[in-house]
Amino acid sequence: MKGALQGAQSKKDVLAAQLAAELSTMIDVELLLDKTVSFARLLSFAEAGTIYLLEEGKLRFATSQNDYLARSVGEEDELPFMGYNLNLDQTTLAGYAASQMEILTVNDTYNIDSNAPYQHFKIIDTTSNYFSRAIMSIPLTTFAGELMGVLQVINPLDAKGNVGEFSSSDEKAIFFIAQSAAMSLEKALLLRSSVTLTVQLLAAVDPMETTGHVQRVAYMSAEIYSHWAAKNKVPNSERDEIKDVLPLATMLHDVGKCWIPKEIFTKPGRLDVNERAIMEGHVLAGAKLFSKANSPLERLTKTLIMDHHERWDGRGYPGNILKEKGEQGAKGKKGEEISIYGRILAIADVYDALCNRKTYKEPFDESLSTQMLDQERGYHFDPDVVDCFMSIQPTLSKIMKRYPEPE
Ligand SMILES: [Fe+2]
Repeated sequence: MKGALQGAQSKKDVLAAQLAAELSTMIDVELLLDKTVSFARLLSFAEAGTIYLLEEGKLRFATSQNDYLARSVGEEDELPFMGYNLNLDQTTLAGYAASQMEILTVNDTYNIDSNAPYQHFKIIDTTSNYFSRAIMSIPLTTFAGELMGVLQVINPLDAKGNVGEFSSSDEKAIFFIAQSAAMSLEKALLLRSSVTLTVQLLAAVDPMETTGHVQRVAYMSAEIYSHWAAKNKVPNSERDEIKDVLPLATMLHDVGKCWIPKEIFTKPGRLDVNERAIMEGHVLAGAKLFSKANSPLERLTKTLIMDHHERWDGRGYPGNILKEKGEQGAKGKKGEEISIYGRILAIADVYDALCNRKTYKEPFDESLSTQMLDQERGYHFDPDVVDCFMSIQPTLSKIMKRYPEPE
């Protein structure tokens, strides 16, 4: 019996090491948080899991998974408690783990000693009609030991699907995952801050390049890609690799605008032929920045820069390599000569422009914008990508609302 337990433990340790290695390469914050919760749940057979991130002195729900609630509210719907933030103090389980910087495992949250500094934050259970009976809370800290957030796994299930208790081996495995996740999260947050800063600088040239716009376009593109990749049976490992770099690469697709005079972007009304040519120069100016692209993120960013103004019917720009070298007579890329990532970004970028205010137009509502996109099927846009866009329109609509323009 002892041997069997040791065997199970070593299998769990090996799996934890493999999952931790996978987390260590990730750079997208959202995907990293989601995978961290998934892996921690996998190792402990937990029905639910959450990550809180420390923001402005509060613990904000950053991601949450709950198999039981997903069955009642639907996979695509947001869980009902996502709007809650917790105080950074000892009164809640997550708050205690965060403020004391220690793992806290409570296997019967409804019978905590009244003298304990913490109690279970039952409002979340009441709101969602779910009983979080066993909760393990693990602080996520930077290499220097500063708090970034808290990982929680909730309700480990036994073979019959009943809620059991977390074991010391669960604690060990999940601590391992949390350490790897924290190291990657520190890098990913830093990288995201750098990209956000670049976008803010870009907004100084083109007021339409707001962080709201680039985030909406980035996460809509990621969602359309997921759907397209599933439909086209792209292997899971390739999908995850692309999803890890696509949002940040998308956020940088217009970085070449930094080299274009501001007056071009702020001019009311239409641009003349010369002004249009200058404006279109932002594509090659941006691509030049990534001429020595080495990493997957840099390579995809360059691809997106070069392809996002191409059109399915070949009437886009900047066209093939002839034009990149400054030679005349180059034609735009056509159909599948344009990368799938560029074809997806073209739709997300135009859709967001249609739905929002621009210097030259008032916002159109989502249904009119969708209709306008559909009319460009086979002309501006890849028909297959338009179909993907249409089939996940409700999800895209939620992304649009998640990243509003600042008042
Ligand atoms: Fe552009």
